[in-house]
Amino acid sequence: MKTKIFTNLVDVYELWRETTLEKKHNEIRETEFIKKIFHQQTSTIQNVIDLGGGIGLHANLLETNGYDSTVFDQSKKALSIAKKKNVNIQTVCGSFEQIHLAKQYDAAICMWSTLSYIHTEKGRVHFYQWMNKNIRKIIILEQANFYRYPATFHKVYYGENNQHTIKITRNWQLNKKNIKNTQYRYEIYSKKKHTIRIIKDAEKEHYLSVDQLKKYLGDTWHLRYLLGDYSLSEKYNKNSSKRMIAVFYR
Ligand SMILES: C[S@@+](CC[C@H](N)C(=O)[O-])C[C@H]1O[C@@H](n2cnc3c(N)ncnc32)[C@H](O)[C@@H]1O
Repeated sequence: MKTKIFTNLVDVYELWRETTLEKKHNEIRETEFIKKIFHQQTSTIQNVIDLGGGIGLHANLLETNGYDSTVFDQSKKALSIAKKKNVNIQTVCGSFEQIHLAKQYDAAICMWSTLSYIHTEKGRVHFYQWMNKNIRKIIILEQANFYRYPATFHKVYYGENNQHTIKITRNWQLNKKNIKNTQYRYEIYSKKKHTIRIIKDAEKEHYLSVDQLKKYLGDTWHLRYLLGDYSLSEKYNKNSSKRMIAVFYR
């Protein structure tokens, strides 16, 4: 499934993220949290790969803070925005299901439920085996706490930045296998061109339990933290947490 907000419409991705999240620039808080995790490690983290890092929101901040950062993503358009944000970011275009980078990284991050975009068992096995072989010290797998999500959902959001205003209508259905199908309708108004675009979009996600993550990563990794938000002091609670953040150490 080609989700337009990650591909043809990626120029409004940042506005889409902050509008659906109902928070501006939350990547700053998310990246501060990632840095705190890296500092917990006794040996230094030098290089990091952001798996499904899109337009480089986290990679830009990490690179600025001295981490050699790579964004891996299947969207060429997203990667070109990442590169424009910060020329020092390395970008690699490819899919999780077939990732075959030979390089090793100290750490991997996979933010904002991005691991949920893998839809085949073969693809998941390949992706986690790759991490197993190519990541040396830390893996951060960050998802929404989908256990709190209702089976059906409807909401309308409004957002604005210098260039656009956006109205997003979101509907989803979540089944018992933790697969969520979402339909979107966007009304995007360009302040410069005075035009309005009405676009339909969709995405499918398959969330994974912590036990599944452990199984895919294998027993050379251990779950160091399971957190309910972007804070080391916020332990995960299935009934009340916003996020479900699994931090694995070698
Ligand atoms: C929800 S966005 C998250 C982007 C970023 N991690 C963030 O926190 O804003 C998901 C990203 O994953 C990428 N993606 C989705 N499925 C993928 C796949 N199978 N292989 C590689 N990248 C994928 C999309 O292109 C998109 O940039």
